[in-house]
Amino acid sequence: MGKVVLAYSGGLDTSVLIAMLREKYNAQVIAVTIDLGQHEDLAAIKDKARSIGAVDAFTIDAREEFAHKYIVPSLQANALYENVYPLATALGRPLIADKLIQVAHAVNATSIAHGCTGKGNDQVRIESALAYLDPSIHILAPVREFSLSRDYELKYAQEHAIPVEKAASTFSIDENLWGRSAECGALEQEDCEPPEQAFAWTQSPLDAPNYSAYCELTFEHGVPIAFNGKRMALVDLIQELNRIGGLHSIGRIDHIESRLVGIKSREVYEAPAAKILIQAHQDLEKLVLTRDVLHFKPVIEHTFADCVYNGLWFSPLRQALSGFTTQIQENITGTVKMRLYKGSAIVIGRTAEKGLYVKDLATYEGADEFDSRAAKGFIQIWSLPYKVYSIKNNGHSARALPDLPVAVDSTAI
Ligand code: ARG
Repeated sequence: MGKVVLAYSGGLDTSVLIAMLREKYNAQVIAVTIDLGQHEDLAAIKDKARSIGAVDAFTIDAREEFAHKYIVPSLQANALYENVYPLATALGRPLIADKLIQVAHAVNATSIAHGCTGKGNDQVRIESALAYLDPSIHILAPVREFSLSRDYELKYAQEHAIPVEKAASTFSIDENLWGRSAECGALEQEDCEPPEQAFAWTQSPLDAPNYSAYCELTFEHGVPIAFNGKRMALVDLIQELNRIGGLHSIGRIDHIESRLVGIKSREVYEAPAAKILIQAHQDLEKLVLTRDVLHFKPVIEHTFADCVYNGLWFSPLRQALSGFTTQIQENITGTVKMRLYKGSAIVIGRTAEKGLYVKDLATYEGADEFDSRAAKGFIQIWSLPYKVYSIKNNGHSARALPDLPVAVDSTAI
């Protein structure tokens, strides 16, 4: 079969695949591990790939690209699938596909393999991204094709001397800069509280500090650029928010999720930075965007989240939706203040140079700039259609109409 580029995580599935692709497909496996900010020893993963029999192994640090090209558009769309899931895994897959294609082209491989199962969303995301990026690429999905079970894989690993981390977690974990997901094991019992062992980034609210943390986030054109007044690279800023948010138990999400493949699954997420940043960004948008744009935007946001979740990152629709959200970020420059305390992140203040809040207009104090007398005529015209409707439908007399500021032929009513 020749060269096969394998998306390699270092876990059981893909480690077994290195050996299996060699054995069953006579393939020369090139293992590629992409760093999206998961907390893992990438050098050790690379060595492991070689030790199992990969002819070559690469690790690619794609954190900055992930932050700027994938997380930022998603943040600007305030994207939350089913209103709660910030889409960490879903955002990572198209970038992983992109890197796999780059390696495949560089090493002249015509096949790409992944370790996704046939029940999840990730197979769809990776394969539809690959189809867009190189329609001629050949895709191998042995875990799906052979319905490999965990028990089978463990046995296979033992027979082929593949090192297996001591059945570390009973959960299936995926993580990157934008969040961590856990599923399987005890979490499959949808009516039971997730055990503390399912969490790794966040403290239990019961153990979180008894003091609160203030958190000041500065955005420039919809991109976070500073934390508590200190300018930071985006990757560092996200990591810092994950740390401090995790300490205060921010961003735990327990979700019954509608998968693209039709299954409902129980997912537990930790996404401190995503939770904080989306909330701050949303608040700044309320201050800066005109009411009509603000009220229209959720349609874009929901569709964007669905596109990302459903593996359509590269689709013309997703790109066009991002065109809209990017354009309206022009004035999203300002600072949002939040307080983090035992699992809650609350916005407590905001400021923006182009903010549309004008205190002299809004104030209830004596000297304001709003001409309240003009409100009377505005309300008369605003309510006119409903007045006419009520006369027509509720049996009211047309005598109510002479008050109108416009001439209406009441005999015609
Ligand atoms: N349910 C989430 C999603 O579809 C997370 C999936 C996590 N993937 C994994 N291989 N553990 O995006």
